[in-house]
Order: sequence, then C-alpha cells, then structure tokens
Amino acid sequence: MGLFDGKVAVITGAGGGIGRCHALAFAAEGAKVIVNDVGGARDGTGTGEAMAERVVEEIRTAGGEAAPNFDSVCTDEGAQNIIKTAVEAFGGVDIIVNNAGILRDKTLMKLELDNWNAVLDVHAKGTFLLMKYAALQMKEQGRGGKIVNTSSYAGLKGNFGQSNYACAKAGIYGLTVVGALELAKHDIQVNCIAPMAKTRMTEDIAMVPDEMKPEQISPMVLFLASSHADGMTGKTFGIHGQQIFEYEMKMNDGVKKKGDELWTPTEIAEKIDQIRLWEKPAPAAAAPARELTPKDKCDAIFKYLPEFFVAEKASGWTATIHFKVDGAGDYTINVADGKCTTANSAEGTPTCVVSLDAATFTGMADQSVNPVKAFMEGKIKASNMNDMMRFQPAFKFDPAKVEKVMAKLQGAAAAAPAAAPAKKALTIEDKCDAIFEVMPEFFVAEKAAGWTANVHFELDGAGTYSLAVGDGKCTAAKGAEGTPTCVVKTTAEIFVGMAEMKVNPVKSFMEGKIKASNMNDMMRFQSGFKFAPDKVKEVMAKLEGGSSAAAPAEAPKPTGLNFDMIGHSVSGGYSLVKAEETKAYAAATNDENAAYSDDEREGGVIAPPLFPVKLLADGLFKMLTDGDLRADMGRLVHGEQDMIFHAPIKPGDLVSMRGDIEDIIEKSSGNLIQALGKVYRDGELVCEARSGLFIRGKKKGDKKAEAAPAEAEERDELFSVEMTVDEDQTYRYAEASGDKNPIHLDPEFAKAVGLPGIILHGLCTMAFTGRAVVENAAGGDPLRLRRLKVRFAKPVLPGDTLTTTGWKVEENDGVLSIGFETKNQDGVAVITKGLAEVTG
Ligand code: NAI
Repeated sequence: MGLFDGKVAVITGAGGGIGRCHALAFAAEGAKVIVNDVGGARDGTGTGEAMAERVVEEIRTAGGEAAPNFDSVCTDEGAQNIIKTAVEAFGGVDIIVNNAGILRDKTLMKLELDNWNAVLDVHAKGTFLLMKYAALQMKEQGRGGKIVNTSSYAGLKGNFGQSNYACAKAGIYGLTVVGALELAKHDIQVNCIAPMAKTRMTEDIAMVPDEMKPEQISPMVLFLASSHADGMTGKTFGIHGQQIFEYEMKMNDGVKKKGDELWTPTEIAEKIDQIRLWEKPAPAAAAPARELTPKDKCDAIFKYLPEFFVAEKASGWTATIHFKVDGAGDYTINVADGKCTTANSAEGTPTCVVSLDAATFTGMADQSVNPVKAFMEGKIKASNMNDMMRFQPAFKFDPAKVEKVMAKLQGAAAAAPAAAPAKKALTIEDKCDAIFEVMPEFFVAEKAAGWTANVHFELDGAGTYSLAVGDGKCTAAKGAEGTPTCVVKTTAEIFVGMAEMKVNPVKSFMEGKIKASNMNDMMRFQSGFKFAPDKVKEVMAKLEGGSSAAAPAEAPKPTGLNFDMIGHSVSGGYSLVKAEETKAYAAATNDENAAYSDDEREGGVIAPPLFPVKLLADGLFKMLTDGDLRADMGRLVHGEQDMIFHAPIKPGDLVSMRGDIEDIIEKSSGNLIQALGKVYRDGELVCEARSGLFIRGKKKGDKKAEAAPAEAEERDELFSVEMTVDEDQTYRYAEASGDKNPIHLDPEFAKAVGLPGIILHGLCTMAFTGRAVVENAAGGDPLRLRRLKVRFAKPVLPGDTLTTTGWKVEENDGVLSIGFETKNQDGVAVITKGLAEVTG
C-alpha cells in the first residue's frame, strides 16, 4: 500500500533536479505521475523531450505508472494541456507540484527586461496558470486536492543578483496564501516549500553545499500532498538538507496613534524604534551567579505542569495551547482525554495562543499573581476565551511544589527560602513599619467624620505605633506618641494579616486575638480604614528591593474603559462555512426547519440566522480583550443583541469577518460597549450583528426602572409559543457554537461566580425566539427574517419552559415589525424588548 495509491500527481519541471526526485518518490508511493518538463537549459532556452521521457522510463522500469508532457508552464495553452494530459492519461488530477524553474541572474542595474520577464513568466505566471487549471479540474472532480508550490530563500529572505527570481519566488509565497484562502471551499489545500539542494540550478552557487541533495526535498512535498497534512494550508516550509523549518510573514504590534490626526513624519521618526519593536526588552536582571533566569523558571514550571493538572476539571476539553512567554520563549500545553503533556517549544497547531511575560507566568505558578486580574489588566492575552476559561480550573498550582522545584534547580535542595532569594528578607517589624507608613492612604475621611482619636497599637513582635485621627485627617508614627484614647494589643502577624486582608479583624477580635481598651475607637477604626492589599504588597516589594536602590516610581496605570478605542476595528479572519457546522448549530437550538437540514431542498441548505454569531465570536473576543480597551471582562454582561440579515449564509461560503467598536456609552451603573460585527461573502455584506456589552461599574448604579411593557390587551398579539430548554441544551449549544464558557458547563464554576447553576447561552435563547418568529410569523421561511433584536433580561436555566409572545408593532413597505418577549415558567421575563422584522 502506497501513500498515494489511486492518486494522480502532476509534477512540473520533473525532467531533472528536484522535480525528478519528486516524480520518483510519488511513483514509489503508488501515484500515477505526469512528468512535465519543457526540456530546456538552466536559463530556459531550448526545448526537448528527452528529459521528461527519461524520468518516465525510470518510473516505469521501477514498476510505477507515469506519462510525459513537454509543454511550457508559462503559456495559457501549455498549462491547460498539462492538466489535459493528466485527465486523458489517468482520468484526473489530485496533486500538483509547481516546481519548474529557470534562472537568469544579473544585478538589477544590468538586468534587461527580457531576462526579467522570462524568469517571472516561468515561476510566477507558470505557478498561477497551473494553480488555476488544476483547481478548475479538481473542483469539477469534487474530491478536493493538494497543491504544493516552490518558493525560495532568495525570494523570502533575499539574495544578491536575483531580483527577478526573488520577486517571482516572493510572489509564489503570496499566491500560496491567497490560493489557500480561495480554494479552501473546494477542499483544495495549497502549501509551499523553499528548498535548498545541489542541482544544475545551484551548481555554481557556493552557498548551497554538495551535501544538500535534491532527494532530501521530496519527503516534505509528499507529506504536504498526503492525508497526513489534511487541514494544513497556506504554509511555507524551508528544507535545507536534513533541516525542515517554517517560514512565516509576521506583523509586530507597532504603534497606534490616537484620534483622527494623521501621523507626521517627525512623529514617526520619534516612534520608529517603538514601531520596529518585535520583542519587549527582557527585564534587566542583575542576577547573582546562581539566580535562576526567567527561562530556567518557566522551563521548570512547564516541565512539572502535568502534576498540577486536575483531570476531573478538564473533562471533554481538548486543546493545544501555545504560550509565548516574553523573556523565556515558546511552550506548548496539550490537553486531551483527561491528560496533559507539555513541550518547551511551540508544537502542533494551537487552539489558543497565550502571550504573557515570564514574571506573570512564574507569579501565576507561585500564586503571587492572580491570573484573572492579570488577564483583566491586559498582562495576559489569549486568542481563545474558552481555552483560557478552562485552563483556570484545570490547573491547580501548588506553590510549595513550585518552590521546591526552583530550590532543586538552584542546587540549594530543600533548604532554599521561598521565591525571590536575592531579595532582602523582611522582618515582621519591617512589614509593620511599612504598613504604618502608608496607613494614611488607607484612611477613608468620609467614614471618619466627627471622630477624634489617638490609637496606640502594641504589636507583639514589632513594637508600638500611634495612629492619630482628627478633623478628617490621619497621621501615623512609630512609637507611642501622645495620650491614647484606645490601646490595641495584638501580634504583629495578625496586624500584617489584617492589612493584607488575609485575617478577618472582627473574627480575631471575637476570638480574643485582638484586644482594645476602647470599643468605640475599635468600631470606628474598622470602618475608617480600608486596607488595599495591592498597596501593601507594593510597599513590601519596594522594601524587599532594598532601600539603597529604590525601585523607580511606576507611572500610574490608566484604569477604566478607554474611550479612545471608539472606532477601533479588528479583522475576524476568514472561515469556510461547513454544512456539518450549520446543521449542528440548528440542531443545538432545537430548530428542525428543513431549510437548515434538507439537502434536497431547492437552492440547498442555508445556515440558521443566528449562525453568524459563531463566525464572529473570535473577532469579538479579540476586540474585547485588547489591553488598550481596558475592559474588565469579569464585569461584562451581554445586554443586547441586534442582528440584521442581508442575505443567507450557505455551506461552502468563504466568509470574512470584521468587528468595530461603534461606541462606548457612559451609564450611571457602568459603561456600554456597542460592538458591531460584520460578515462578508465575496465582499458583499451578508450579516450585521450589534452586541450591547455592558461593563458593570464598581459602584452600584441606580437601578433604572425598566419601562413597563405595554399591557397585553393593547397588543395585537400574533403568537404565543412554548419551548422547553433541554437538560443537555447548554452542552449541545456549547459544542455547536464553540462557546465553552464554564458558566454554561460546570455547575461548580457557575455557582462560584454567583449564578444559581449553569445557565443557557443567551444567544441560544435568542435562537429560540428567532425560531418562534420564523415559524409563527414568517410562514416557516427563514429568508423572510430580516432582523432580530433582543435584550437579555434574566438567565435561562436548563429545564426552563419559555413562552415567547409576539405582537404586531407596525407594517411598513411590506415589512412587518413584531415586538416580542419571552418569559419563563414563573412568569419572569428572560428576553425583553424583542423586535423582529419580517418581509412579506
Ligand atoms: P533544475 O533546473 O534542475 O530543474 C528545473 C526544471 O524545470 C528543469 O528540468 C527545467 O527544464 C524545467 N523547466 C524550466 N522551465 C520550464 C517550463 N517553462 N515549463 C516546464 N518545465 C520547465 O532546478 P532545481 O534546482 O531542481 O529547481 C527546482 C525548483 O526548485 C525550481 O523552482 C527552483 O527555483 C527551486 N529552488 C531550487 C533551489 C535549489 O537549491 N536547487 C533553491 C530554491 C528554489
């Protein structure tokens, strides 16, 4: 059994060099091979049949099947004829390897147009023509296909004297990327190689050593053409002898100017270093010889990560997460079948890419950094929210273990102190000193109105401190100053614990661990001082750093939503809409409409109206987690969704997505982000989705009374339908939509964030309402639904029975506007302000 039994492979330029090796290798794996070669010289002059014939003969002698073709790849007729030869000889084409090439090297000032054109013709035009005619044939056959192009180091990185060749080969990289995008819908995958091998083409190029042989190139081409590479497309791999690697076109983060004013050249000059910054400079570490580098630490943590994995919390979770750790490198975590493995490099195709710096990662592991907070602050970025949400409960770091591993690494075995061995170890007195120094910052003047006191704290292990309060002000001092109104006695540890908010003062007081001579002062103290653990930590860290070299004052970090992000847009990438996905989405919303499932239907199946939300999810996530926006995701509530359907989305569509922040509106209880997602097909706008995303403020806002819904009797009721949410609905919807937020799947997690249990995805409830409208006001025809808008009022739980009631609002130009709302079995409105527009 060969890798390509029954397949037909066309190899251009297969009469010699690398192409010949491809042809022999494909034939040896059972492929029927078309050996194309024009049979000319290295510079493309001349023609002849001998080269191709000879390779065909070689294949046949070895027992394989092959047929020759002598056409040039760079004429329209020739390219068509190459494909025709394959169809006539072997009935079709499954694989095409664009390999033909010539060289006409001259430095660009000496290069004549003829020599420019000849090289561009064979490489760029030839590759384009063969891609075109092979793709047309593959499309007609309907069984997909594989295209492998040939680029070059000279095109991707540049080479002296090869401007024509480099231009053509760089163009082939672009052709590969575009071909991958456009041909995906026909299941045709396009990849590219950039070989290096000694052939007649490189016989006089010293850079290519004799040890790099053409036969070393073919295995990678076979891999890319085989089912091993199913799903891989648009990639370019270099092969230098025994080394295989990937080329990638990259963009750095650059710099974005705020507002509409154009950049000036001077401003660009000022920022050019930042614009060109690829990697953030590694934190300067004046490390003593035995101190571990951030990379040492991250390497060790990733190595031991499987030990922190909690399999029960990861059931049903499959992921490949690439961690790009600034200052340490790339790492991979694989989770599948309740197991976890790691690697100290980027391996496999990631389901999620997480970027963070080494300090944040090691801090997460030793639990000095709160990952959720770091994420909110933009210190951790992730390309896939689901994986991030699953990561959090599935890995339970054990700081003691981390500490032990680090100590071992340092060679200091078990005796090593906790993290940060280079830092000054603070005594408990140091800590109390530091806290009293910043005590006035914790003072809440409004809560201390009319309170005058002099409280002496006698702290066992640290000494006495004085705290004076009067006229809404507070001063603190070391030592017993003045006559106390109250003496508080406790241990220094308990006091520090209070400041770090690790010790509950009321409880300690009840337990007799804190004693006070004046109850009134104690009560006022409790409300008049609000400790901020972050501030305490900061002061300690400063102290630990040593007083001689005071840490540079950090610029105050801006907080709150960034209104400059209004108008910011992101690309949501491309997607090939697959029938199994659209059908699964319909099934997961209990929608049995034949339009989504019946392949025999005239015009074929269409995607359900709400399906675009699946397409838009990634872009929306990217937009909301942009560090510049400063959105606190933990306070995010999906408030409203408004969808406008311009044309149905169908399986086989290649769609592109885009997201914009349309507006950020200040409300009394928080801020509303209006995000607009758009789905395009061939440049045509097919769906718009507006999401009202509310970021709850820190302060409780005045709860606005919802406008009372119009009385039922005033409504011209059109329908009232009951639908039941299945017990497994959230699991099915999570699978079909890709939204695997644990609030929908993990009862424990949902309860931990204050929900009664797992709740249904709001968009699934919305899909229920869409179905109610289509079935009851659009004659079952989803194409008549032009708009669907809802407000998510209350969570929906599995097992709920939902009643959606719709009424006529108005009819204008053949468009019926329907108001609707959805209530649960207890009469609680879960969807309010529903609006649907249905065409006649
Ligand atoms: P080669 O010169 O041995 O093979 C190229 C083949 O293409 C020749 O047999 C030639 O007759 C044929 N050919 C030229 N024009 C043609 C046309 N219009 N129609 C059909 N066939 C035509 O060179 P080599 O090294 O085997 O190169 C193969 C491919 O690999 C080329 O695309 C080349 O640019 C590329 N490449 C090779 C490198 C190397 O180190 N050898 C480095 C980077 C890229």
